[in-house]
Formats: sequence, structure tokens, C-alpha cells
Amino acid sequence: MFATLVALLATCTTTLASAADPASVVRGGRLYDNLSVELKTRIPNQPNPAFKTQQVRVAASDTWRCVECHGWDYQGQHGFVGIAGKQNADPVAILAILKNANHGYEDLLDEGDRLDLANFVSTGQSDMRKLMDMTAKIKPGQGYSEKVFATVCANCHGLEGDRLRQIPPLGDSARQRPMEVLHVTLNGHPGGDMPALRTLGDDTAANMLAYLKSLRSVNMASSVANGGRLYDDWQAQLGGQRQALPHPSYPAKAYYANVPSETWRCKECHGWDYKGNEGVYAKGNHATGIKGIRAMAGADPEKIMAVLTSSVHVYGAVMKYRDLLDLANFVSYGQFGNPAYLSEKFF
Ligand code: HEC
Ligand code: HEC
Ligand code: HEC
Repeated sequence: MFATLVALLATCTTTLASAADPASVVRGGRLYDNLSVELKTRIPNQPNPAFKTQQVRVAASDTWRCVECHGWDYQGQHGFVGIAGKQNADPVAILAILKNANHGYEDLLDEGDRLDLANFVSTGQSDMRKLMDMTAKIKPGQGYSEKVFATVCANCHGLEGDRLRQIPPLGDSARQRPMEVLHVTLNGHPGGDMPALRTLGDDTAANMLAYLKSLRSVNMASSVANGGRLYDDWQAQLGGQRQALPHPSYPAKAYYANVPSETWRCKECHGWDYKGNEGVYAKGNHATGIKGIRAMAGADPEKIMAVLTSSVHVYGAVMKYRDLLDLANFVSYGQFGNPAYLSEKFF
């Protein structure tokens, strides 16, 4: 069927390019964002061989995402070209590019996926700069997206946009990554049931971004408090299954090595006094020889999140974004045991 479609496209591309099915365009946009989430398929464990830049560290799975090389503004990043030059190009020609040596997706994409991507590249790219300018001109309280958000989005995201624990609060995403949020607003998110707002036009997208930017951030006091509880026993706190195998960094010869779930508690390696091998756990049943976390008090929470998801800790596999953020906020702001420090900083 797709072969016929492609043949058809080849004969009357000009009309089809301008009249691309909006459903195909927005699906292409979601594939562009994250094709493995949209297709619910696993992508190869190894990095994309076409991702040849040495300068940046990018998770192997992200090197397969179109957006990682071509950018949220469609102008390209990490030294790769953008896709903006292919706006209004013949989808059949774009389809051919998606089969060249730089795009070794082979069985990952079928012909229909490639056509959706081509339609997105040809007719789905918005002028991000223009949209950002439009958004900037909307004064707080002037946008009309509050109702759309409350009726369409809040079901999943909560009225304050911070209910989902696998992502940052939408307010933070909108302030920190506005182009990505615009792309998602226009096309929907991969693998999700979110309606794409594209058909409602650029004004609606700009309005939604302006509204999202007004939503609250994480409440620091409750984040730190929750982080403290997770530090004690995150498995109990999150109510999931306890780990069946010992933590990979727990020394095999240490006392609790044969009580697997205990070895996953932060306090078991770093101590109640956060001093690790220099504190109370320097000797006795709890001794592991591992250092404390005091040195990271006051550190940038993002750096601490990177520590928690590294191969030393592997917590990215068992906890959600917001749990890791709460732990990081606790490590940075909570371990002073001094409420005055907190209040000075955040209240
Ligand atoms: C690892 C990096 C990388 C990823 C991921 C990637 N591309 Fe590319 N892309 C390139 C490179 C390099 C070129 C330039 C050479 C070429 O045309 O093959 C390119 C070129 C293009 C072009 C032509 C741009 C122009 O103006 O000539 C389009 C369109 C394109 N890619 C679309 C996509 C889509 C859609 C995806 C996701 C399915 C994707 N790319 C994923 C590296 C990448
Ligand atoms: C059916 C539930 C659902 C609805 C309805 C929904 N979303 Fe989402 N949204 C999600 C989920 C789940 C994610 C996380 C997806 C992921 O993990 O990749 C998400 C992610 C996002 C993101 C990406 C945030 C980030 O930091 O990566 C944005 C932006 C977003 N949604 C905006 C909206 C807007 C605006 C609406 C309303 C027009 C909406 N969503 C409606 C479930 C929903
Ligand atoms: C099985 C033992 C173990 C557990 C459990 C563990 N860690 Fe660690 N942690 C380590 C090791 C090993 C290091 C790295 C020490 C080094 O190489 O310098 C480390 C380092 C750290 C550091 C960086 C300290 C510094 O000054 O560089 C922080 C912060 C940290 N861990 C926080 C946590 C948190 C929060 C938890 C619980 C969610 C946790 N750890 C659970 C073993 C563990």
C-alpha cells in the first residue's frame, strides 16, 4: 500500500506537499522527537554510528533521535546540519535522505514512518524564533490558554503542571526548554495521548507556552524533605518491589552483602551522618569503606543527579526524574541539619 502511495507521491508531489495530512505531519513531529517512544520499540544499545562528534556526551539512546542532531529549532546542533533547508521540499526526496548512510534506521522505521517524517520536515516546521517572539509579547494573565490547559492537559499534568513524576514540572520545562515545549505542544508527545495543538495555529501554541511559563516550580522545602525520606529508604517510600540483587557498588565482602535490598539504601553506604567511611560507619557491621556525601552539600543539583544516574549508582533505572531531583536537592540543601540555611535560601 505504501509503495503505491509513494508512487503516487512521485507523480503529484507539489499538490501533496502542500496538502499533507495533518495527522501524518504531527506523527512525523513525534517521531522526530523520540521515535523509540512513539513506536514503542527498543533501539540499539550502542550509539548511532552516524553520531561522530567526540566533543559532547550524549546518552547512546539519544543519538538515534532526529532532534539530537537536527535540533528543536530545526537548525542543527553538535555540528550537524539542520532540516530547515528542506522546508517545502519534495517528500519523496526527503524519504530518500532517510535511507542514506547517515540515517541507518533500516528496520526501525517502515515506509509509513518515513513518509510521516518527510511530511513533517516538508510542511511541519514552525519558525521557532517567531513563536518565541510572539510568546514574549504575551503579558501574564493575557493569555487564553488557561482554560485549554485546565480542560485538556490538567487531567494528566495536574492544574499546576507538576503532577507527573517522570518529568520536571511543566513550568520549569517551559522556562528552561521553551522550543522543545513548543514542539511538543504543536505535535503532541511521543507515545502519549496528548492532542496536538497544531491545527489550532501558532497563536494557540504561543499562548500555551506563555501560560506554561507561569506555572510553579518545585516546592523546595517539600522536595528536600521528600529527598531526606528517600535517602533513608527509597524502596519503602516509593512502595515498589524491593531489590532482589545487591547494589552493584556494595562491596561483596561487607556485612549486608547477603541482604540485597538493604544494600540499595543511601544511608547504608553513606551513613546517617553523611560522612561514610569517616563517620560512624567507619567500622562495625555497616562499614563499606565508601566515602560520604558531605562534599556535595551546596553543589548544583543537576550535577548530583548525574552522579545518581551514573554506573556507580544506576538509580536512573529504578527511580523517576522527580525522585532523583528530590534526592539531589536533599544532598545539596538538606544535609546541613540546619533549617536556618534552608530558610535563608528559599523562604
Ligand atoms: C547522528 C546524527 C543524525 C541523526 C540522528 C539524524 N540525522 Fe538527519 N542528517 C545527518 C547528517 C550528517 C546529514 C547531512 C548529510 C546527509 O544529507 O545525509 C543529515 C541530513 C538530513 C536531512 C537533509 C538536510 C539538508 O538540508 O540537506 C534531513 C531532512 C534529515 N537529515 C532528516 C532526519 C530525520 C527525519 C531524522 C530522524 C529519523 C534524522 N535526520 C536523524 C545526521 C543525522
Ligand atoms: C493522557 C495524558 C496527557 C495529556 C492529556 C497531556 N499530557 Fe503532556 N505528558 C504526558 C506524559 C505521560 C508526558 C511524559 C512523556 C515522556 O515521558 O516522554 C508528558 C509530557 C509533556 C511535555 C514534555 C515535558 C518535558 O519536560 O519533557 C509537555 C511540554 C507536555 N506534556 C505538555 C502538555 C500539554 C500542553 C497538554 C495539553 C494540551 C498535555 N501535555 C496533555 C501526558 C499527558
Ligand atoms: C552500594 C553503595 C552505595 C549506595 C547504596 C549509594 N551510594 Fe552514593 N556513592 C557510592 C560510591 C562508591 C560513590 C563514589 C565514591 C567515589 O568514587 O569517589 C558514591 C558517591 C556519591 C556521591 C558523590 C560524593 C562526592 O563527594 O563525590 C553522592 C552525592 C552520592 N553518592 C549520593 C548517594 C545517594 C543520594 C544515594 C541513595 C539514593 C546513594 N549515594 C547510594 C556508593 C553508594
